[in-house]
Amino acid sequence: MTTKPEPSLEPSSHDAGSTDSNVAEVNLTESSVPLLCGVASWPWYAKYLRDPLDFFVSARKKFGPIFALGSPMPFSKGGRKFLVVSGAEYNKIVLGKPDQFRSGGQTLRGPKGSAQRRIREGIFAMNGSRHRTHRRMMQPPLLKPAIASYGPRMLSLVDEMVGTWEVGKPIDLYREMRKLSNWAAAHLLFGSEDFAASMRLGEAIELWLQLDADVRSRFALINLPGTRYRKLLQQAEQVESLMIDAINRNRISNVQGSDLLSLLIREAAQNPDLMTEKDLVAHAVILYAASFETTANALAWTLFLIAQHPATAQALNDEISSQLGNEAPDHRSIDQLPLLDAAIHESMRLLPPVAYTFRTPAHLASIDGMSLDGKDKVVPCHYLTHREPDVFPDPNRFLPERWLESRPGHYEYVAFSAGARLCMGISFALLELKITVARVMQRFRLAVVPGSRIDGIIQLTLRPKQGIPMIVYPPDQAFSASPISGSITRMVDFHD
Ligand code: HEM
Repeated sequence: MTTKPEPSLEPSSHDAGSTDSNVAEVNLTESSVPLLCGVASWPWYAKYLRDPLDFFVSARKKFGPIFALGSPMPFSKGGRKFLVVSGAEYNKIVLGKPDQFRSGGQTLRGPKGSAQRRIREGIFAMNGSRHRTHRRMMQPPLLKPAIASYGPRMLSLVDEMVGTWEVGKPIDLYREMRKLSNWAAAHLLFGSEDFAASMRLGEAIELWLQLDADVRSRFALINLPGTRYRKLLQQAEQVESLMIDAINRNRISNVQGSDLLSLLIREAAQNPDLMTEKDLVAHAVILYAASFETTANALAWTLFLIAQHPATAQALNDEISSQLGNEAPDHRSIDQLPLLDAAIHESMRLLPPVAYTFRTPAHLASIDGMSLDGKDKVVPCHYLTHREPDVFPDPNRFLPERWLESRPGHYEYVAFSAGARLCMGISFALLELKITVARVMQRFRLAVVPGSRIDGIIQLTLRPKQGIPMIVYPPDQAFSASPISGSITRMVDFHD
């Protein structure tokens, strides 16, 4: 049992509380925040490299909602720190103070002058007034009124995808959802009608993100032939060049387009001092990656969790058929489906596509008395925040009903983050998620292939490692859970 400390930005003097039993293994800073460094940190670093989620859960259980990893060098007493925090109070301190805790972008910096450096410097890596200005410029096509106009096209993309499914045959749900969200990003956000080119771009971005998340790139920044890091830098060049092609195609064919890319192109033309050509390419890459990776994971996990919870699937089916009948879902009718909304939020609570993020202190700072500087990282862990039992009783269970009774506070549920860097694509993502889940349930029943192994891994986003094999049935309402194995059975309590 751990004692929850009172968080503070100033040095605090609360007693060691939960950490007394760890004194032999970890350093306690003056503030009593557990700091794992030197030889004592090795098992924790090893755990992190093997499975970040397992590391977060075990460390939270042992040390409480705030703990730090320091230098692994033998005899080190500190060094560069990664301070992991979870829970609403710490989120408010870190995510609520964007000028104090800055975003440095999610991907590796890359050498000066490299494509890697250029394409990572979009909105995610901007701070202060520059971040606010660019956010304002990008916002209009992502606000709810603009998004509503995407409804019919979104539905036709879903119908096109499920039109290829054959009853009685297996599909890899994860692959299908990646395809769908790739199309949605390409067609609706980027105004492209070229399916083949958008798949090439999506696949190139996917490989780039995979290489970037690979520990062999992260821990060995050696730019030599054959290294993972060299491959990453080459892949960044490929992504940059495909994105420049996509921008040029949009420039030629879509002069008055209302999609996000057309708007960015017009902003860059009208305000070249504020938005340079380099900013345009970087924003476009980051937007594409931010939109299709996250939404594909949320879609796949949500349909999987529904399939494994027959009572919820039945209740959702009843809600969809009583509200929509045989009518196709649209942007208005999907807002009349409270259980669908609850199931989607609950799925992203249990399996948040963005499981944790990083912030860097802008100046000397201190949280609970642990001092931090610009070399350190603060890591708000959304996966842990979403499993606080005081806020979400029975935290490992998929219980959409909890959302019908009350909604958590802004910093308690952070699937889309909170504060000044709140996700800009919420309306787009929710439209895509709701139309897709409702439409798939109207047309089919999906069941996990019995005996499948499902592992949740972090590769920038939280995704199913080997995909999710599903069998497609007609919408016969014969909902039943399938026996499965893998790390997902530790992440979710499958009781319906
Ligand atoms: C289920 C889908 C999605 C999830 C779970 C999600 C989650 C998030 C999270 C957690 C952040 C904050 C990252 C941080 O604090 O470091 C974020 C930022 C952002 N998201 Fe999303 N996102 C989703 C879909 C989208 C879509 C469809 C777009 C579309 C265009 C988008 C655009 C952005 C942008 C531009 C930011 C950066 C905001 C800023 O730095 O000011 N996201 N998203």
